[in-house]
Amino acid sequence: MPTNDRITVVGAGQMGLGIAHGFAVAGHPVVLVDVSEGQLEKAKTAILGIIDEGVKRGKVDAAMRGQVEGGLTLSKDLAAASAGADLVVETATENLKIKLDILKTAADAAGEDAVIATNTSALSITELASAVNNPGRVIGMHFFNPVHKMKLCEVIRGLQTTDETVTRTRAWAEGMGKTHILVNEAPGFTTSRMSAMLGNEAMWMLSEGVATAEDIDTSLRLAFNHPMGPLELGDLTGWDTRLSVLHYLHQTLGEKFRPCPLISKMVKAGRYGRKVGHGVYRYEDGQKVPGSGLRPV
Ligand SMILES: NC(=O)c1ccc[n+]([C@@H]2O[C@H](COP(=O)([O-])OP(=O)(O)OC[C@H]3O[C@@H](n4cnc5c(N)ncnc54)[C@H](O)[C@@H]3O)[C@@H](O)[C@H]2O)c1
Repeated sequence: MPTNDRITVVGAGQMGLGIAHGFAVAGHPVVLVDVSEGQLEKAKTAILGIIDEGVKRGKVDAAMRGQVEGGLTLSKDLAAASAGADLVVETATENLKIKLDILKTAADAAGEDAVIATNTSALSITELASAVNNPGRVIGMHFFNPVHKMKLCEVIRGLQTTDETVTRTRAWAEGMGKTHILVNEAPGFTTSRMSAMLGNEAMWMLSEGVATAEDIDTSLRLAFNHPMGPLELGDLTGWDTRLSVLHYLHQTLGEKFRPCPLISKMVKAGRYGRKVGHGVYRYEDGQKVPGSGLRPV
């Protein structure tokens, strides 16, 4: 896939910044879109921060900073940013209405040949494609957090996704250095379905007083060799996103995905996780504060 393919990334949160970073490092011109100016600036600082860290550790060439800074444009105008794009990757808040609106505007503004991808964690690609005039070009491109460290891109085909769209999408993922797997649309695909189940069960155990947050996380890390525990992972994902995913899986796959009420409480309290500095654990300067695990009452 030529590196001059133009990429538009919509949503400059923790995933959007990582996806924009990945495409920019791979040599693509990237436009990053958000409704919030502050979020766009924060994302740009974070993208350059990832590069600076890589340079400091001797893993990234110092010239990369200039390449990425030169190739990255910030925008609040979705239609203008989508015009001329070869690929639009939607990665805004996990909400069906927001995503349908974005996909429609982006697809109307981009050329007929542009691929329209979504980084949704669980929603139906087929349903999202219904907003788009040529639904064969809509596909799931599911990345993982933090995008620059996680090697997988789960490619999800909806009912009407064409073979050509799948081939082009796999090539873009490969150009970013990702391993890609192909999944036929199902709620939560392979990854979110498993991690939502695990994280929900860990929250049930925490709320039942089975063990402390720290001990639940340690059990998965040391007994099963997971790199992080399910509560730490929920903090990284964001409990707001996790709750939206669980609601959707509960609706589509049934009772086994009923969200633990403790997750709803956390979201009501604004304790979304690392991105706000407080979730199951508290974070200072990006580091987990020892002994800060939630003790439910
Ligand atoms: N966090 C994860 O671990 C993870 C992993 C894979 C996929 N995802 C999915 O990625 C998407 C984004 O998740 P996130 O963790 O980056 O969330 P986030 O809360 O960090 O960021 C969401 C961003 O979307 C922006 N936004 C909202 N409405 C918008 C609109 N109409 N137009 C443009 N931007 C808009 C918000 O301003 C915010 O900056 C969700 O669909 C989520 O399910 C998340």
